[in-house]
Amino acid sequence: MLRRYVVTAAAGLAATSFAAHGALAQDTIKIGLVQSLTGPLTAVGKQVMGGVNLYRQQHGDTVAGKKIELIVKDDTTVPDVAKRLAQELIVNDKVNILGTGITPATFAIAPLATQSKVPGVVMVSGTSSATERSPYFVRTSFTLGQQSGIIGEWAAKNGSKKVVIVQSDWAPGAEATQVFSDHFTKLGGQILDTLKVPLANPDFSPFLQRARDANPDTLFVFVPAGQAGLFAKQFIDRGLDKAGIKLIGPGDITDDDDLPRMSEAIIGTVTAGLYSAYHPSAVNKAYVEAFKKLNGFRPGFISLGGYDGMHVIYEALKKTNGNTDGEGLIAAMKGLKWESPRGPISIDPETRDIVQNIYIRKVEKRDGELYNVEFATFEAIKDPIKAAKK
Ligand code: PHB
Repeated sequence: MLRRYVVTAAAGLAATSFAAHGALAQDTIKIGLVQSLTGPLTAVGKQVMGGVNLYRQQHGDTVAGKKIELIVKDDTTVPDVAKRLAQELIVNDKVNILGTGITPATFAIAPLATQSKVPGVVMVSGTSSATERSPYFVRTSFTLGQQSGIIGEWAAKNGSKKVVIVQSDWAPGAEATQVFSDHFTKLGGQILDTLKVPLANPDFSPFLQRARDANPDTLFVFVPAGQAGLFAKQFIDRGLDKAGIKLIGPGDITDDDDLPRMSEAIIGTVTAGLYSAYHPSAVNKAYVEAFKKLNGFRPGFISLGGYDGMHVIYEALKKTNGNTDGEGLIAAMKGLKWESPRGPISIDPETRDIVQNIYIRKVEKRDGELYNVEFATFEAIKDPIKAAKK
């Protein structure tokens, strides 16, 4: 069962000939979104679509005189389904732009984007190589490396010496572990053990028991959006907080989507993340208010990939005057720079990857609710795995 979710579609591309896209004059521009709206990562799809729908509500459905049509498909958290849906969107619906979701789905869609020259905005995947899988990909989400290196150094400089890693067992988890370990051990930290938890239907309890038995001072944890609530509950149920074991990680483990329902025992958890609903800017205050009004829940970090992804698409179309030629759109997306609710961000013209601030935050109670309160900022952070390859 599990493998269905995590195995990427390595199989060769079906021999499909793609009709010519793009340069043709047209009145409607079609955006095909393939997102996980059901299955193990439903919470991710819900957040990313919350961001997409808010952007559209605020900015309308006409750009450069062209009507923007959204076609939304549910990949059910299965990469082969994502691939089939993307193929149908390209061949049958003749979409001009794709919006991709989680890592395995994004990997499965990459060869289709390359062959058809249909640009894809990567709205969720946090795995470094996603943008290298196709020259037609631009990322508006994040990488796990961006956050994990920074928390690794912070932990080493703030009293953590012996760490056990608990990692969701798929590509972004492997990268969180790799980059955290590099940065933490370089400053003298020691990794006692790395425990890998299945992605689908996880039970963290046995792993937490093993982690506790290893007697670390700190636990570094990566679980994907949607699993933070269950993880926090099992961490507290197993008594790791009372044992004095510090909990750290990328922002996923104190996701704003789950934080309001967590126990106050999670107060004090320090993470390095790209977004907090408590980020103190006028742009963010307006975002949180409008997002809650439209969707009925607090925006989490995943929502920004959708919201900013739509911004990239709209701004690129304005620059090309509505021309949807793939190469022209990617060129127009490169180097875009703007203020997102998460803070200032840009698209690196060299790598087509997102450059963003990473904030160190601590869970605190504010206005009667739990929030990630930012207390240090690392500006304009690039993906460290790509930077190390240079
Ligand atoms: C991913 O698809 O790479 C992904 C999804 C959810 C997360 C982190 C990474 O929280």
